Amino acid sequence: MEKIKNRIFNEDCLIGIKKIPDNSLDLIVADPPYCLGKDYENNSDKLNSKEYLEWTYKWIDSVIPKLKDTGSFYVFLSWQYSPEIFSYIKTKMLMINEVIWDRRVPSMGGSTRKFSSVHDNIGFFVKKNKKYFFDIDSIRIPYDEETKKARTRSIFIGKKWLEIGYNPKDIWSVSRIHAQAPERQNHPTQKPLEIIERIIKASCPVGGIVLDPFMGTGTTAIAAINAKRNYIGFEINKNYYKIINERVSNRKGEAGLFKDIVKSKNIIHNTLIKI
Ligand SMILES: C[S@@+](CC[C@H](N)C(=O)[O-])C[C@H]1O[C@@H](n2cnc3c(N)ncnc32)[C@H](O)[C@@H]1O
Repeated sequence: MEKIKNRIFNEDCLIGIKKIPDNSLDLIVADPPYCLGKDYENNSDKLNSKEYLEWTYKWIDSVIPKLKDTGSFYVFLSWQYSPEIFSYIKTKMLMINEVIWDRRVPSMGGSTRKFSSVHDNIGFFVKKNKKYFFDIDSIRIPYDEETKKARTRSIFIGKKWLEIGYNPKDIWSVSRIHAQAPERQNHPTQKPLEIIERIIKASCPVGGIVLDPFMGTGTTAIAAINAKRNYIGFEINKNYYKIINERVSNRKGEAGLFKDIVKSKNIIHNTLIKI
């Protein structure tokens, strides 16, 4: 495992996955092609329905045994195939949530023969033994001062959740990455760091290992570095693989440079929580 930890491989995940021992991963975050005809400079998003589902079931079957008993599996999909794929995974695992990612697409006319589609479906699954790791406190959203002040009735005083924030619930309203955004890379379906970081913090212990079989621009690797977790990833496209390596080495450089700042921020954060 040490030989493959914190590495990205430029290969088909169906082949690469064989390197990973069974029962060794804390988390799998999979953002596969959705079968919508996107151009990933290969035909991976251009299969017909039958081929797509067959391929999907194959990679799902190959990743599930790699999870520890306490592990979790998140898969990003869109409404077109999430019903079939979620049903398939439910025959093997326990479904905990369907998170809706509202991409906050602005209203600009849009479709005229249907409602405009502005969300992705994220399935969250665990082993049927229900021993899964889940750290809600690390992803709570703090209340603003105004809301805190408004909760002055005696029943709210001293409530832990008022101090440490609320559960983010299952609809995540996070803007898709705009062309001008600093994290933007040259890839058609890059996911926001904010979303992947939330998943990692909630479902992978510090120092644990997260696998992303479809790395794209390496968002999962960057989120893992930010959250002090280990990663393993596969990406079949050479150009995207180059982007990942560049992004990861830049992030590691920054992490080294700003280590002290991060440390002092943590101290402040811990102090606040203790109060
Ligand atoms: C939806 S994108 C992932 C985007 C990624 N989450 C990000 O934030 O950048 C899917 C990626 O899977 C890659 N891919 C497709 N088939 C693959 C396979 N068999 N093995 C590894 N990567 C594959 C595509 O080239 C594409 O970059």
